[in-house]
Amino acid sequence: MSVSARSIRPVDVAGADPAGRLLPRVRLAGKCDRYVLANGVELPCLGFGTYMIAPDEAGERAVRSALDLGFRHIDTAAQYGNEKMVGRAIAASGVARGELFVTSKLRNDEQGYEGALTAFERSCADLGCDYLDLYLIHWPKVGGHEGEWRERVRDSWRAFEELYAAGRVRAIGVSNFLVPHLEALLEGASVVPQVDQIELNPTYQQRETVAWCRSRGVQLEAWAPLGRGRLFRSPEVVAMAERLGKDVGQVCVRWALQSGFATMPKSTRAGRIRSNSEVFDFELDAADMAVLDALDTTDGYTFHPDRLEEWAVRVAQAHAESGV
Ligand SMILES: NC(=O)c1ccc[n+]([C@@H]2O[C@H](COP(=O)([O-])OP(=O)(O)OC[C@H]3O[C@@H](n4cnc5c(N)ncnc54)[C@H](OP(=O)(O)O)[C@@H]3O)[C@@H](O)[C@H]2O)c1
Repeated sequence: MSVSARSIRPVDVAGADPAGRLLPRVRLAGKCDRYVLANGVELPCLGFGTYMIAPDEAGERAVRSALDLGFRHIDTAAQYGNEKMVGRAIAASGVARGELFVTSKLRNDEQGYEGALTAFERSCADLGCDYLDLYLIHWPKVGGHEGEWRERVRDSWRAFEELYAAGRVRAIGVSNFLVPHLEALLEGASVVPQVDQIELNPTYQQRETVAWCRSRGVQLEAWAPLGRGRLFRSPEVVAMAERLGKDVGQVCVRWALQSGFATMPKSTRAGRIRSNSEVFDFELDAADMAVLDALDTTDGYTFHPDRLEEWAVRVAQAHAESGV
């Protein structure tokens, strides 16, 4: 059963949580409704993900489709190899830079103070931006440097704090940082990360990290909100989607938003880009949220930041699934 937009009661995520003092407030009435980060910067709740979008004309068309559909939050990374393509799509869209929220991430092999400063400038140049809205340390640990990850992330963070103080980036944060990584980063830090972007979907909820971030005012972003397509094979989610007259992608995106996470589903297909964003005319009630919350597992991840030995296989799998 779907309901009309008129009958929708906007959800106030902060008000719904008893520990909501530091949680973001967002009404979830449209994709550009904004979470307010700890520093006051506003983050559109629904972004467009670009992992595995090839840096070619088809990729550019996908990013253009998202911008034409009204997405104003674009998530990329130097590691994705597509920042120049994303920059071309932004330029061709005619959307004013000030209307956009552009995120990029520091590549693992460029961690460190000097590396981070250089990498940031290259990402800006490739994206055609003279500032970024959000810059993230992509991963806490790097293969081959497992013994010195603390020093590498702290040195990178020093550069991030300088870029932030200089106004080159509006918000700084981390990605794939679990509690021990966050605590290590904070030793000696002057700025608490404003965002942690981690893998989050009904089958992988990372509750310890989520609770830690909530208690410290760190906004969570959910990557792989569709479980990289795996949720389309979940009988519980399929049944719920059918009952609600929605598709699985819409139920998963809605679960992320109602959980208080910003999120950024990825697709290269215009129809899916549109349907993944049509999530503001229905609401998951408490019983539906409970069913989805109960799907949590500890091994539903794509990549685990502390299990680097699995990465080669998992990256190859991701490429095979995406055909890139
Ligand atoms: N910080 C990090 O380390 C990190 C890691 C991974 C991802 N991310 C970010 O998070 C974004 C989203 O994560 P993700 O791309 O890994 O996974 P995702 O958004 O959960 O899933 C994307 C996959 O689902 C398919 N899909 C999308 N919409 C669909 C629909 N409506 N029906 C059926 N299939 C659908 C896509 O295929 P088609 O393209 O063929 O539609 C693609 O294979 C990324 O693009 C990236 O920006 C960040």
